[in-house]
Amino acid sequence: NEAGVDAFDVDKGCYENWFWPHLPSYFDDAVYVEEIAGRLKQFFVSEGINVPVVAVGKLGKPEVASYVLNKNWADFIMLGRPLLADPYWPNKVKTGDVKDIIHCIGDNEGCIESFKKGGHPCCSVNPYMGFEDVKEIKNAEIKKRVCIVGAGPAGCEAALTAHKRSHNVTLFEKSSVIGGQLYLGSKMEMKHDLKRYLDNINHKIERANEQGLTLVFNKEATLGDIKDQFDVIICCNGLKENIPHINGLDKIDHIGARQFISNGMKVPPNKKNILIVGGGNVGCELAYIVAKNKSYNVTIVSKNKNLMPNTTMANRNQMLWLLMGKGSTTGNKKDSLDQAVKAYTASKIIGFSENQVYIFSNKDRKDPYIPWMSLIPENVNNPFEKKLNPEKVEHLNFDVDYVIFATTGVPDDGLYQELKNAQAAREIYQVGDAKEIGLVWGAVSSANEIARNI
Ligand SMILES: Cc1cc2nc3c(=O)[nH]c(=O)nc-3n(C[C@H](O)[C@H](O)[C@H](O)COP(=O)(O)O)c2cc1C
Ligand code: SF4
Repeated sequence: NEAGVDAFDVDKGCYENWFWPHLPSYFDDAVYVEEIAGRLKQFFVSEGINVPVVAVGKLGKPEVASYVLNKNWADFIMLGRPLLADPYWPNKVKTGDVKDIIHCIGDNEGCIESFKKGGHPCCSVNPYMGFEDVKEIKNAEIKKRVCIVGAGPAGCEAALTAHKRSHNVTLFEKSSVIGGQLYLGSKMEMKHDLKRYLDNINHKIERANEQGLTLVFNKEATLGDIKDQFDVIICCNGLKENIPHINGLDKIDHIGARQFISNGMKVPPNKKNILIVGGGNVGCELAYIVAKNKSYNVTIVSKNKNLMPNTTMANRNQMLWLLMGKGSTTGNKKDSLDQAVKAYTASKIIGFSENQVYIFSNKDRKDPYIPWMSLIPENVNNPFEKKLNPEKVEHLNFDVDYVIFATTGVPDDGLYQELKNAQAAREIYQVGDAKEIGLVWGAVSSANEIARNI
């Protein structure tokens, strides 16, 4: 007080470790609150200093926020991203409508990455954030029969928005659950934020269902099912797994990443050397999860120059830190991997034998765990970038007895093409991964855009 400070807002991190101040989904909730705010609060109490301490950082689950206060780690809590995801968070907590809260998924895609790249700040799970003045949801002038195929994030956003506008909505989902790729992601413990986000979508879909939205689970909608039945069809049927044809693949036990996650991420018995093909988000996340079991040697092979090249800086750098064995999702060093996951970037698989993989690897590939990457997009020439000479390759081979393909999926656009060819409805749209493999922000905001305008 003497120094003129009314309250202390304390968090952790700096530019070199952006994942501390902008905690990605991978971290546990309130991961450093006890260590930072709690320690300061304890010090103030012991010294008789009567200035409030503010805790911040992954406190978006109301029960976590109240735990922090009950523990007396802080006098009040601050919310950053949870309020971008849902500005009505405080009101919903006050009225007890906690299930109604749209939960921040910690991808840092809309709030941080978009404006770092010079775009408009936005939020992956809240298409209205940053566009409150231009995006309006109006009752439909003409009530239409709207069919949505696929209940992933795009399909659910389209269905809920169209339903809110009083259209007559039918949502088809080929599985028995909503969420699509996000449902799979939410099965990873370290993506607990996705699970909470999906809980909210489930809650909203259930409520819409009670109010007249038709929900058809376990049904893969076909042309025959929906042709001439609807005024509008929106295809949100996602992607297909993509396992490339590689010499000798039939000789080795292998699985697609999505199937592996569906099966509970269990490596079959008597396997030791695990190869992950693909160094994007899914590949790196699975490599970390599998490597946590110390009996496995895990190696990633990626054709790209960098691991997770399309992931936001904070999230990517945290994952590299995890894979290097330097840190953990709990924030405790003791929970880190014992040794770094091996990774070959700028490398291509050329074949398999019973227990070996053969790769071409660029000799100039860089250390995969150097976090710095150029901010210049791939399609813009960067005169300072060291180019890899495609001729400068070496042949390598190493032991492998189980292969997980975390290669990028391909859009499942067959139904859309069929519907268009058959002129199955007056308006036919395609959105999300079914159109182009992308991120939650693209899927949700484009689905919202279509559903607000039909
Ligand atoms: C868009 C955005 C901008 C931020 N800018 C700052 C900043 O200028 N200074 C700062 O200390 N923290 C900044 N932060 C970090 C937040 O204050 C907060 O510590 C962080 O988002 C973690 O809290 P949360 O989990 O509630 O979002 C920013 C966060 C976001 C999402
Ligand atoms: S963009 Fe992602 S991290 Fe940022 S507030 Fe929205 S959901 Fe949270």
